[in-house]
Amino acid sequence: MLRAPALVNTSSRAASTAAKGARIKTFEIYRYNPDEAGSKPTMQKYDVDLNKCGPMVLDALIKIKNEVDPTLTFRRSCREGICGSCAMNIGGYNTLACICNIDTNAAKPTKIYPLPHMYVVKDLVPDMNLFYKQYASIQPWIQKNEKINLGESQLYQSVEERDKLDGLYECILCACCSTSCPSYWWNADKYLGPAILMQSYRWIIDSRDEKHVERLSRMTDSFSAFKCHTILNCTKTCPKHLNPARAIGEIKKLLTGLTTKPAPHKPAAASA
Ligand code: SF4
Ligand code: SF4
Ligand code: FES
Repeated sequence: MLRAPALVNTSSRAASTAAKGARIKTFEIYRYNPDEAGSKPTMQKYDVDLNKCGPMVLDALIKIKNEVDPTLTFRRSCREGICGSCAMNIGGYNTLACICNIDTNAAKPTKIYPLPHMYVVKDLVPDMNLFYKQYASIQPWIQKNEKINLGESQLYQSVEERDKLDGLYECILCACCSTSCPSYWWNADKYLGPAILMQSYRWIIDSRDEKHVERLSRMTDSFSAFKCHTILNCTKTCPKHLNPARAIGEIKKLLTGLTTKPAPHKPAAASA
């Protein structure tokens, strides 16, 4: 498919609008279509009048796609930092385009790339298959030693035990953290990465789950969890302000026997 260069004649658009007090901001966006014979990654420039655009980077991308170049490809859905689909690298940081303010310094172009070190499906769309496969591998659901007959009895959890899930359950699996992690860049086939490890810890530490020993036993090799070298890129970049590095530290403590999972509290009636 053609990249329609005539649609992005940035200098003529800038010249025609500048006289009317427009605030022209240039976005340099990674373009690549692996399905197109001979296609190579390029950076393409688009000018956007910030006076006619919403405040977020996703607003600019949608404006470019709607009004300038319909071939520009990116994921988005919720537009409020909940679905995680608009994760990309903006101005050097992995973040969510929908909650990332446009840098209004018009003298400085904003560069936008797909999440680093991921295979590219097209333009800003990374291939998430490995990431989701790794997520499935940690079995992200409550497991008991006995079969649960849903609706028959309460899966009791005290307020204090529930508090332990704060800062873990809010993860939207955007992969900003994993794709900022040098260990994940080089060993994604064997290292689970911060997002998946934090989700693993979310189920390990859940007082209602009884399979923490089995969960931990799947991570005793030198790669799955121990490839984390505490560089902290993950925590620095998380757009939801979570702390995957801390969760990984807790997993390491459990794996090395420095801590153990506390026994679950009993409901007041049962312990009386
Ligand atoms: S703390 Fe661990 S998971 Fe986070 S960026 Fe560093 S190596 Fe990666
Ligand atoms: S921990 Fe943060 S950066 Fe990582 S996947 Fe979850 S929300 Fe995204
Ligand atoms: S569009 Fe859902 S997080 Fe950005």
